[in-house]
Amino acid sequence: MTTTLNNNVSSVEAKKKLFGMVLAFIQSQCIYTATRLGIFNLLHTQGAQSLEQIAQQTNTHPERLYFILRALAHLEVLQESPERVFAPTELSELLVTNQGPSIGHFAMHLLEPAQWDAWKVLEEALHTGEVPFERANGKGVYEFCQDNDWSGEVFINAMSFLTDHAVDALLDVYDFSRFNTVMDVGGGQGGLIARIVKRFDCKGILFEVPYVAETAPAYLLQQGVERDAVKIVAGDVFKEVPTGADAIVMKYFISAWNDEDAMKILHNCKKALPPHGRIVLLQAFVPDLDEPKVAPDGIMPGVFAVQVNVAVPGGGWRTKKHFQKLFEQCGFQLEKVVDSQTNLSAMEFSLI
Ligand SMILES: C[S@@+](CC[C@H](N)C(=O)[O-])C[C@H]1O[C@@H](n2cnc3c(N)ncnc32)[C@H](O)[C@@H]1O
Repeated sequence: MTTTLNNNVSSVEAKKKLFGMVLAFIQSQCIYTATRLGIFNLLHTQGAQSLEQIAQQTNTHPERLYFILRALAHLEVLQESPERVFAPTELSELLVTNQGPSIGHFAMHLLEPAQWDAWKVLEEALHTGEVPFERANGKGVYEFCQDNDWSGEVFINAMSFLTDHAVDALLDVYDFSRFNTVMDVGGGQGGLIARIVKRFDCKGILFEVPYVAETAPAYLLQQGVERDAVKIVAGDVFKEVPTGADAIVMKYFISAWNDEDAMKILHNCKKALPPHGRIVLLQAFVPDLDEPKVAPDGIMPGVFAVQVNVAVPGGGWRTKKHFQKLFEQCGFQLEKVVDSQTNLSAMEFSLI
């Protein structure tokens, strides 16, 4: 028995839909390759260029490069005019990587060869239960990024981009002003904590692994954060979480870990908080069966969760109910859930 698609699309429409899904990787790869070659940066600074000019400046073979540039033009990422001249568009401007964190860093992080290698072993890893990224690369993503300068820099910028993309809409609907000191655990370069301290006039703590923490002072300065407003602490969340905050935020952090590790993190957070403290979990949440599958910014958390699961040790993105259960097992209770206009929602927990 076949199941008819819920909007009763014809088989033509169904095939069209599947073609789009099956061929989507070509679009991602064209974007990735052009970003890595610096083509969007080049067009951003120099304006429209001929195929030959682009090929010369990127040390590529023009006839082969043409396939990629033409495809990007068909996708409206570039604009092609006669004589094979290519100009930037609104989309290519968003992929520029030399003007601060952008969706270009996000594309490079998700599609870099080490990540792609993980997808290649997905089927085998499903049989063995391994983390595909670890099977393919012999180490975890965080360790890999620490050991490879380019990957590390791209990863940090990709995370900062995600913060820039979603945080203001979240802070419009979730108020941090009742806290004295907010600590961002696994807070990257500090984009979120910078916005919290500036907007709500509280103190901040940024807790990160050493190689990321090192990059934070310059980033915070650039964000206009006063020197003593955010204390930067380098460490390992599995060993100890610093005290001093009455609220802990974790954005896209706990989702990297399986339930067992997530519980260790929550126990360490609990030890670090005062009795009236709060944990604010910031995440995209995988929808339950009766919830919308697409977030307001177009991201499908249930689909994106596969990428997280391929890259890091399990768990991935969870449903709100799953997170609630996990927190309750560690002595927290849910106070409220706040959704925003992007994929990011907040779940606030108090200590029982
Ligand atoms: C997926 S990123 C999210 C970064 C940031 N919260 C955001 O949303 O942009 C996870 C972060 O956790 C940090 N991290 C990983 N392992 C950690 C550990 N054991 N202790 C503290 N931070 C850790 C990583 O360096 C990375 O910046």
